[in-house]
Amino acid sequence: MADTSETPSGQSQHGRIYGAARYYDIAFAYRDFAQECDFLAAVAARHLGRAPESVLELAAGPANHAIELAGRGLWAAALDREPAMVRYGTEKAAAAGVEIAYQEGDMTGFALDRPVDMALLLLGSAACLLTNSAVISCLQRVSEALAPGGVLIVELPHPRELFNIDDATEDGWEVTRDGTRVRVRWGSPGDSLDPVSQVAQVTTTLTIWEGGRKQVIRDKAFQRRFTVQELDALARASGCLEAVAWFGGLDLDVAIDDPEEAWRMVAVFQKPHLR
Ligand SMILES: C[S@@+](CC[C@H](N)C(=O)[O-])C[C@H]1O[C@@H](n2cnc3c(N)ncnc32)[C@H](O)[C@@H]1O
Repeated sequence: MADTSETPSGQSQHGRIYGAARYYDIAFAYRDFAQECDFLAAVAARHLGRAPESVLELAAGPANHAIELAGRGLWAAALDREPAMVRYGTEKAAAAGVEIAYQEGDMTGFALDRPVDMALLLLGSAACLLTNSAVISCLQRVSEALAPGGVLIVELPHPRELFNIDDATEDGWEVTRDGTRVRVRWGSPGDSLDPVSQVAQVTTTLTIWEGGRKQVIRDKAFQRRFTVQELDALARASGCLEAVAWFGGLDLDVAIDDPEEAWRMVAVFQKPHLR
C-alpha cells in the first residue's frame, strides 16, 4: 500500500491522544467489536451479494475491527497516519494471532495493492476530514481500493446533535482494563462550532490511573460535523460512490430516522457492480 498524498490540507489533530495508543484503546473499549463486525459483514454481504472476503479499516487506530474480521478469515488491511497507532495495532494483531497489512498513511491519499470488498471508517473518524475536498479525495481513493460492488461503511455522530435536538452521544465515561483506569471527557463547555465551516474545536481529556500514578492527557482537535444530506451530496460529487443505505447505529434494526433509537449516523456507500 503506497501513500500517495500531497501535503494534506484541512486536517484534524488530537496528536497527543492518538499518540497514546494503548490508553486510547482502553478509553474506547466500551464497544462490542464482535457484534459491530456482525453488522458490518452483514451489511457488506447484503450489497455485495456474497460474504465479504477482504476489508480495509481506515483511520483504524488500534484496528480492532480489522483484527476481529481477520480472525474470521478475511484478508485485512488497515491505514492510519499516526505511527504509534500503526505500531500498537500491528502488535495487537500479532498478539491475537492474526496478520493485518497495517500501513502508515493518509486516508485522502493512499493506494492498495489489491482490491477489498469492504472499507470501514468508524467511530467518527470521518470528522477528521475537515473540507469537502478532503472528503471527496478520501471517497475517490476508497473507490479505487474497492472491488466492483464493494462498500464503504462510515459511522459518525447522529445529526440530531448538530441541530441541538438532543445529545445522542455520551461525552464522559470511564473504562478499566487490566488494572488501568481511563476516564474520558470528550468536549468541554468552552469548545466552539463554526456555523459556516461546520468545524468544531473539540477538547478531549484522558485521565489515567495506572500503577498508583495518575496522569492527564489533554488535547484539542478540529472536527467537521456532517448531515445526511451533505454525505449524500459529497458521494454524488465524488463521481464514484453512491449512498445505498443508512442506519441509526451499527445495528440492522435501528433506522437512521428512528426518533427513539437512532444515536449514530451510519452511511453505506457502494461502488457500482460491473455490468
Ligand atoms: C477516533 S480515532 C478512531 C480509531 C478507530 N477507527 C476506532 O474505531 O477506534 C481516529 C483515528 O484516525 C486517525 N486519523 C485522523 N486523520 C487521519 C487521516 N487523514 N488519515 C489517516 N488516519 C487519520 C487518527 O490517527 C486516529 O487513530
